[in-house]
Amino acid sequence: MNQEAWKKVEDAVAASKTTTIKQLFAADPDRAAKYTLSAAGWTLDYSKNRIDADVMKALFGLAKAANLKDEIEKMFTGAKINRTENRAVLHTALRNCDPAAQVFVDGKDVMPDVRAVLAKMGAFADAVRSGAHRGFTGKRIKYVVNIGIGGSDLGPVMATLALAPYSKRSIRNYFVSNVDSTHLAETLREIKADQTLFIVASKTFTTQETMTNAMSARDWLVKELGGSGSAVAKHFVALSTNEAEVVKFGIDPANMFAFWDWVGGRYSLPSAIGLSLMISIGPKNFGKMLKGYWKMDKHFRTARLEKNMPVVLALLGILYANAYGAESYAVLPYDQYLSRFPAYLQQMDMESNGKSVTKDGKPVAYTTGPIEWGEPGTNGQHSFYQLIHQGTHLIPADFIGFCKTHNDIGDHHDKLMANLFAQTEALAFGKTAEQCRADGDPEELVPFKTFEGNRPTNTLLADDLTPETLGALVALYEHKIFTQGVIWNIYSFDQWGVQLGKVLAKNVLKDLVAEKPDLKHDSSTNALIAHYRKVLGRA
Ligand code: F6P
Repeated sequence: MNQEAWKKVEDAVAASKTTTIKQLFAADPDRAAKYTLSAAGWTLDYSKNRIDADVMKALFGLAKAANLKDEIEKMFTGAKINRTENRAVLHTALRNCDPAAQVFVDGKDVMPDVRAVLAKMGAFADAVRSGAHRGFTGKRIKYVVNIGIGGSDLGPVMATLALAPYSKRSIRNYFVSNVDSTHLAETLREIKADQTLFIVASKTFTTQETMTNAMSARDWLVKELGGSGSAVAKHFVALSTNEAEVVKFGIDPANMFAFWDWVGGRYSLPSAIGLSLMISIGPKNFGKMLKGYWKMDKHFRTARLEKNMPVVLALLGILYANAYGAESYAVLPYDQYLSRFPAYLQQMDMESNGKSVTKDGKPVAYTTGPIEWGEPGTNGQHSFYQLIHQGTHLIPADFIGFCKTHNDIGDHHDKLMANLFAQTEALAFGKTAEQCRADGDPEELVPFKTFEGNRPTNTLLADDLTPETLGALVALYEHKIFTQGVIWNIYSFDQWGVQLGKVLAKNVLKDLVAEKPDLKHDSSTNALIAHYRKVLGRA
């Protein structure tokens, strides 16, 4: 992080720190309008933050000092900005809807391949939806099971739930991710082999969990249907970058939907990884989602920093993480359809910016990626909001809502949105001791019923939850996270931190199943392995 520019942020924060959000609003009747932005169907009201013109100016200075505009261009034009893996980062190419667009990696335009895979996905999704693609025994596909984990699971799960109003209800989607056999077993209980399509989603096609689940699913299917290879051909497709492994597994490359090493797992929803979603909502709606992404992409690439929604969100996040010591932030969608959105964002943010080494390989001297968490409103209000309102941690929160509902029953939606707006009001303005007394609270209860307020929130509003607004929302957070990575000077697109656990799990597995293990771990791990083996009679 540029220290000179950061010093200016610290100075601006020091000068404004004692002014509360309440005072900021009292001093400026135009504050809400001043700190509201619109892009790609979304409105961001960020007025309920601990910011004034000087703080924002210093924050924009920080972005400029990091050459953010140049870095954005590098990403969009296929530069190998994922240096530790020597890869371009081009999820934006996946949703570039300009038919004339060209994007080059190593001198090759990737757009023809992007369009070809999309077309292949569309034809296949249509065939499954219409019944043209049938199972081994001639039955229509009624169950679609995506087998994948991490980025090959969370995006499709989140979006399939989010876009349920657009789904073909006669096809049911399932997602199996955990290597815990319970996940697969409980899914298999609900489906019929002759009506099931398994989608094996794995960028590498070597991930332990996914391959274990895929092999067990294949064994189950062959046991149920017979026919071995020919049954597998009708009931299994693969989404991957690794054709050799796909073929080794027994899936014909004709039934493989490709993507490329320049698509990060956690950014892969708009790639072939979205096939299960496309089967659910149809290629047209999938295309609308890509359009939504694209609109936000164009906004991010072209809007000046001061009017740039992902940049503003990123800078506010940096303000709280680095100047106020906030360790986490909450994402609180007031829409049941977005129930898995916080979990999806968790991987996107924490796997991207959970880094402690700068691009020069030196330890960072400041806080980087925050802990992201959340639940849909209003449920969270009856669970963890108490801590946000009156606890000792500062937890900035993004409230996400829609003016219209897909399920217009009575006054549910007005109540839902009233809660969203009221929460941001309560968090910002609190309740003083005087107000408590005026409400007749007994003196001994006043300290407990006083709300300090001054809790920062962003409110993100769209007219309704559609494929388009969902795409734009995902792109908004992707670019927010990118911006933070640029400013923190860290590599956001690798994930070496998950490797060690994978390697050690393989070693431990050997010791769990060996006839005579030679336990060479630490005393704790040795004892745990020995205990496990004893319970299973393997001692
Ligand atoms: O957990 C690490 C990770 O590599 C993620 O980045 C990725 O999304 C996930 O595993 C799944 O990987 P794959 O798609 O290769 O199976």
